[in-house]
Amino acid sequence: MPISSRTQVGIIGAGPAGLVLSHLLYLQGIDSVVVENRSRQYSEQRVRAGVLEQGTVDLLSEMGVGERMKAEGLVHYGIELRFAGRGHRIDFQDLTGGKGITIYAQHEVLKDLNNARIATAGQVLFEVENVSVHDLDGARPRIHYQKDGNDYELVCDFIAGCDGFHGICRPSIPSGALTEYDREYPFGWLGILAEAPPSSTELIYTYHDRGFALLSMRSPRISRLYLQCRPDEDIEQWSDEKIWQELHIRLASDGWALTEGPVLQKGVTGMRSFVVEPMQYGKLFLAGDSAHIVPPTGAKGLNLAVADVQILARALKHFYSNGSRELLDTYSDVCLRRVWKVQRFSWWMTSMLHRFPNENPFDHRRQLAELDYVTSSRAAAKSLAENYVGLPLE
Ligand code: APR
Ligand code: PHB
Repeated sequence: MPISSRTQVGIIGAGPAGLVLSHLLYLQGIDSVVVENRSRQYSEQRVRAGVLEQGTVDLLSEMGVGERMKAEGLVHYGIELRFAGRGHRIDFQDLTGGKGITIYAQHEVLKDLNNARIATAGQVLFEVENVSVHDLDGARPRIHYQKDGNDYELVCDFIAGCDGFHGICRPSIPSGALTEYDREYPFGWLGILAEAPPSSTELIYTYHDRGFALLSMRSPRISRLYLQCRPDEDIEQWSDEKIWQELHIRLASDGWALTEGPVLQKGVTGMRSFVVEPMQYGKLFLAGDSAHIVPPTGAKGLNLAVADVQILARALKHFYSNGSRELLDTYSDVCLRRVWKVQRFSWWMTSMLHRFPNENPFDHRRQLAELDYVTSSRAAAKSLAENYVGLPLE
């Protein structure tokens, strides 16, 4: 017999979605248990995204987990679009009435959230195994898992599927109940983390004949850079020297120089856009990458996950404070409206800035015209800026 326990909200996955939800519920007096199959150390070291929208920054501060982010995060009020060897700044402050973004690594956000959960006696169970969900459309959905060789059962009012794209929650929903929307891109990103002082004070998105390149950063000492590559690119074929050489070529601009440094980490990631509808089945609510994936060109993945759980926490508070399922029943529709806008922006940034293997000369000229338009029309620049800093939450 499994060892049984009870909670109000069972959360699967201790990524940004699961941990933000768990702490938001704690702040609302709602009980939750997070089960995670990886170790705390693994999730706090994994190099992933690093751009926080204004809304995400504000929420983390309101939740009381923003102190280190405020102290160590880099606040930017613009980005540069670079093409034909020339840079063009998009001024967020001017175009969005003062909004900006904060560069602060995702794994640092997870560290801050884990510390806050533990400091408030939150239950985040790492290194669990064989997680499964049951009775999703019953009165008491359950999570089964194993830990240290014992079987456990968590009886819940609701389950939040925050277990990412490769998790078990989405596949646990009967296939007929879901519709999947999917687009794979014919390229990937080769990314490096380097001990090199960033060669720019803001991010540089570059459109180049040889493919896209992005200069980003993590701190005044650490740069994060990306190159467009084939989706199945073999990283073994890329020496650090070859990577720097290609970055110099693609990022080249008069009077500007790229500073190199030791490469600390490198890897290749695929690019896809994915959405599943609806984001709810019975008492199971999907949030974050378990329901949608965006290509990284718009820096939206983490921010969209946080927006989902902000909407879910609000709906759960509404349910537990007056028994109304109203906001729970509209959770999926409210999230999907935002998800599709963010999908559009991420697809647009990706389509504007990458070279497509099957493109023809017309497409190339059209992309250059798009970049020329975005960097010379206030209306077009404003649209990019308001999407980049983050659309307001409904
Ligand atoms: N059981 C328990 N935990 C699981 C399982 C499982 N079967 N499968 C996956 N997990 C855990 C993963 O180990 C991970 O810690 O769920 C977590 C999911 O976290 P993320 O993939 O980070 O997803 P999410 O919280 O939705 O955040 C999305 O994070 O990684 C970025 O680019 C991504 O920006 C996006 C954001
Ligand atoms: C990053 O810093 O890792 C980063 C920044 C902007 C993006 C994607 C990734 O669009």
